[in-house]
Amino acid sequence: MSAIRTRTLEEYHADYQHSVEDPDAFWAAVAEPFTWHRKWDTVRGGEFSPAGTSTWYAGATLNLTENCLDRHLEQRANKLAIIYEPNDPKVRHLRLTYRELHARVCQFANVLKKNGVGKGDRVVLYMPMIPELAVAVLACARIGAVHGVIFAGFSASAIADRVNDAQATCILTADGLNRGAKQIPVKSVVDEALETCPSVRRVIVVEHTGWPVEMQGGRDAWYHEEVADVDKDCPAEVMAAEDPLFILYTSGSTGKPKGVVHTQAGYMVWADYTFRNVFQIEENDVFWCTADIGWVTGHTYGLYGPLLAGGTTLLFEGVPTYPSPGRFWEVIDKHHVSVFYTAPTAIRSLMAHSVDHVLAYSLHSLRVLGSVGEPINEEAWYWYDQHVGKGRCPIVDTWWQTETGGIMISALAGITLSVPARAGLPLPGVQPVLLNQDGTEIEGNNQEGYLAIKASWPGVIRTTWGDHERARQTYFQPYPGYYFTGDGARRDAQGLYRIVGRVDDVINVSGHRFGTAEIENAINQSDYVVESAVVGYPHDVKGQGIYAYVICRHGLPTTDLETQKAEASIIEAVVAAIGRIAKPDKIQLVSGLPKTRSGKIMRRILRKVAEGETTNLGDVTTLLDPQVVDEILGGRK
Ligand code: PRX
Repeated sequence: MSAIRTRTLEEYHADYQHSVEDPDAFWAAVAEPFTWHRKWDTVRGGEFSPAGTSTWYAGATLNLTENCLDRHLEQRANKLAIIYEPNDPKVRHLRLTYRELHARVCQFANVLKKNGVGKGDRVVLYMPMIPELAVAVLACARIGAVHGVIFAGFSASAIADRVNDAQATCILTADGLNRGAKQIPVKSVVDEALETCPSVRRVIVVEHTGWPVEMQGGRDAWYHEEVADVDKDCPAEVMAAEDPLFILYTSGSTGKPKGVVHTQAGYMVWADYTFRNVFQIEENDVFWCTADIGWVTGHTYGLYGPLLAGGTTLLFEGVPTYPSPGRFWEVIDKHHVSVFYTAPTAIRSLMAHSVDHVLAYSLHSLRVLGSVGEPINEEAWYWYDQHVGKGRCPIVDTWWQTETGGIMISALAGITLSVPARAGLPLPGVQPVLLNQDGTEIEGNNQEGYLAIKASWPGVIRTTWGDHERARQTYFQPYPGYYFTGDGARRDAQGLYRIVGRVDDVINVSGHRFGTAEIENAINQSDYVVESAVVGYPHDVKGQGIYAYVICRHGLPTTDLETQKAEASIIEAVVAAIGRIAKPDKIQLVSGLPKTRSGKIMRRILRKVAEGETTNLGDVTTLLDPQVVDEILGGRK
């Protein structure tokens, strides 16, 4: 359906050139096949950088769910839209056709309306990976409510911060969540969060596990009761191109996560365009993105991309290793998955088990493999290629960010070069550059620098919720004229990009971003702690682990028991403030931190020690107290 479909290497070069030379014509052609209530006045507008006020398809009106659902009803009504595979393989899976999904979305939308949710209202979702989560997200889009999904692994306090920042009026949750062998009482986590969230008037609870929950009169409602008397049809709200579609909170280098905002038309076009082209999607593909809808990958490639393309998407509630490390491969054979998209951390965690878990399955349905979230190391790349792809499936290593809305740099499956540990070439429409510290462009190949993007693209972040200045300062102001990614990259001899890692104070743990300041703030909540400094270090499975240096209030503990107590309190503080996903992997209690005379912590030294470097620490003479370094080296974990 998409007018721009790059199918050969020659077409790639031609499309790329077209996108740079005449972006208006290029992006108008890409947007043409969608269902619009009104076409745009201008394709690209606003000011990309430093104001960071890009607009795309301004003047157009549309509804995203008409593009995800209604327009497919003519030819694909009985085609599978969603296959849901539960956490427990003994529980029956569920398949929803486009017709069924359309009806469910309309019903959920009517339940939202009945409960007072309208256009522009913010709805927070804190749910398991079940069909109702996908349905609820689409229901918000149907009525023009702004969805804010929070991964159901964040703590009550993290939910409260986000709900209050977004001033959400309604929360959707469930009576419980199973993730592998873990059970999370999501409703009670929400209840705890809501003690400090006065904006929330309604909590709608989906019955999933059957666990008992407390329902607060006047505030909480069961979804299955609410849905009993609503219509299966719900007219789609007509939205302006730049109305907000969703908020997704992500970590930056300050202590407070920011609400990345994406809007209707540009995000839609970008999700569809990148999905079809990167994975070279065919009509009968079964696409499986293993990311939870709580992350951007789940938004764009678990849900919107596949549905916009009229494809079949698999929603998996579980984890790769439950009940056995063969679970992924079992699911691929069971549902004939043809395109599989996962994270290097998942691959590495499975590599740690016997390869027999993979070899037990045929995997003959697979056609394309994808990787996302962090650099994929060569060992993992070859294992994925050999054992999963059987050497016959192109691998796309896709570089992008919550802020970019969709894939920016990646091979197009089977078309452009796919080299281990390289994201590859930019998609047509994406203009990456490498910058020096002073902001000058680095020309030529075999070069390394800060990765920035030179021109706007439809999926670019529009703002940070409630605080545009923050978006401007973070992404568009550091190097005027560019979007700054926060990543360092290398352009190899063939012009392929290799992402080196973050150049700011962000740690990428298992493909999830955490700001070091955010974790430090959490650690400092512990009564035991005076001050802390957090850095990342290489971790075999997670990519990066979290290493925390902590100064205790009463000096260094003298017994093992005291040490254990302090460490337990530190972990508890992080779990309470952020969630289990941000737990430090290593804690080193110290009596001081290496600081300059002006009081700035020299993280370079802490990073080196955490990485295992014990010599070559660089110049330490400018430190206030150089002896601290010896102590830290001596106590390295
Ligand atoms: O450092 C890059 C890394 O993940 C960051 C974006 O994180 P997030 O917004 O949570 O989105 C993750 C899913 C898109 C980037 O700044 N990253 C993402 N993909 C890759 C990557 N690093 C290397 N290679 C990738 N393919």
